[in-house]
Amino acid sequence: MSEQTTFPRWVPLLGGLLGSTTCGLLLYAFSVFIKPLQAQFGWSVTDVSLAYAIICLIFGLMTFPAGRISDKVGPRNVVLIGGIIMAVGFFLVSTITPPDPAVVAAGGDALKSANRAPLYMLYLYYGVIAGFGGGCVYLPPIATAPKWWPDRRALATGFTVVGLGLGSFIMAPLAVQMINSPTIGNGSALPVFKYVGIAMGILVIIAALCLKVPPAGWKPAGWNPPAPAGGAGAPKAFRDYTYEETKKTPQFWLLWLAYFGGSFAGLMVIGLVAAHGIDAMSAAFVKSNALASIKDIPKDAAASIKAAAAYAPMCLAITNAAVRVLIGPIADKLGGTKVIFVTLFILQIASMLALFPAGSNATFLALVAALIGWNYGSMFTLFPATTLQYFGPSSQGSNYGLLFTAWGVAGFCGVFAGGYLRDMTGSYFVPFVVSAVLVAVATLILATLKAPEKKAA
Ligand code: 2OP
Repeated sequence: MSEQTTFPRWVPLLGGLLGSTTCGLLLYAFSVFIKPLQAQFGWSVTDVSLAYAIICLIFGLMTFPAGRISDKVGPRNVVLIGGIIMAVGFFLVSTITPPDPAVVAAGGDALKSANRAPLYMLYLYYGVIAGFGGGCVYLPPIATAPKWWPDRRALATGFTVVGLGLGSFIMAPLAVQMINSPTIGNGSALPVFKYVGIAMGILVIIAALCLKVPPAGWKPAGWNPPAPAGGAGAPKAFRDYTYEETKKTPQFWLLWLAYFGGSFAGLMVIGLVAAHGIDAMSAAFVKSNALASIKDIPKDAAASIKAAAAYAPMCLAITNAAVRVLIGPIADKLGGTKVIFVTLFILQIASMLALFPAGSNATFLALVAALIGWNYGSMFTLFPATTLQYFGPSSQGSNYGLLFTAWGVAGFCGVFAGGYLRDMTGSYFVPFVVSAVLVAVATLILATLKAPEKKAA
């Protein structure tokens, strides 16, 4: 019996789902660690946020070599080795020793000298080591699954990235519970890194075992590739772009810029949306109750404002996960991504502009955040699908790996630019308008971009 009949093609999808879930555990719930780490180590928000900026950068940059190597040796070993490195890095955070609580409480220079070395360890273990491994886990399944599903490429891609949403969904409440549990964290976030690091290691080994590429020339039974378009005189057969050819096309670099713009805006909002809601609702409360300042808001009202603002990131996370699989069948049906891309990016500009005025109303804010999550999450299915559509599947690991570096660079800049612009201007208005402008540039690029000429075989 031939290999294609003995290896069920849903297995690589499962591998992608599990692998991307570990990346979701790694990345998108980081905000829940900020306050406990601050309390235990006396770090500032900027100190802790830098760990997140570093992991975005390293994770995003590692996808490129991971994709290159995966194209050459297959996805399994890249995910296996990368996954173990990721899990070890995450686990190692649990071994960082916090300063004495009395030193943290006293603050000052003594604290500064006691909490620097642990901070660099956080950057190394979480930002560099876990980020390095995470990039190796994320990319190979995205390049592998569509090879098994040439009839449903976008849907297959969506499955390999939906775990980013699922992972953060599991991680955020789980981590909060573990931190608050008197027998596990007792206020400390460190044990979460230990137990989740172990779970990550197990999940990622299973994910790696689910991955392999189909034999050359494999196609699903009964499926034939659609006939190439072209009039009389057009070449009869086409081949994929090589990686070297791909990176020489202007289309590739225009896609990179569009990906950068969309990611910068999305990541900035993910980091700021809850804080924006708290600020805007508190200001509205002060005004409607004729208080002198935010400090005069009663404790229970402040707690309700916090709880109301928390709906926004929650709604954003739900739509960010759901869209990844829901948009796939639509892209597969349309046979291209341009129309959906442009529609969703225009919607994203409108959402970015609506975000500032929406802040003072919890329902409106959650609705706008949900729209932003929907448009942001769609990129992780549509950009790989566009890369496949333009350049073919043979070098998808290298091509999409290089394209995804845009997300890493955007993550690093977006996380900083958001806080910096907020501090400089005293409001979230400017960061959100800057985001809208970047998405507008991305929209213009995507609306005018044309697929490169097919390569004659
Ligand atoms: C994603 O959400 C990692 O941001 C990337 O798929």
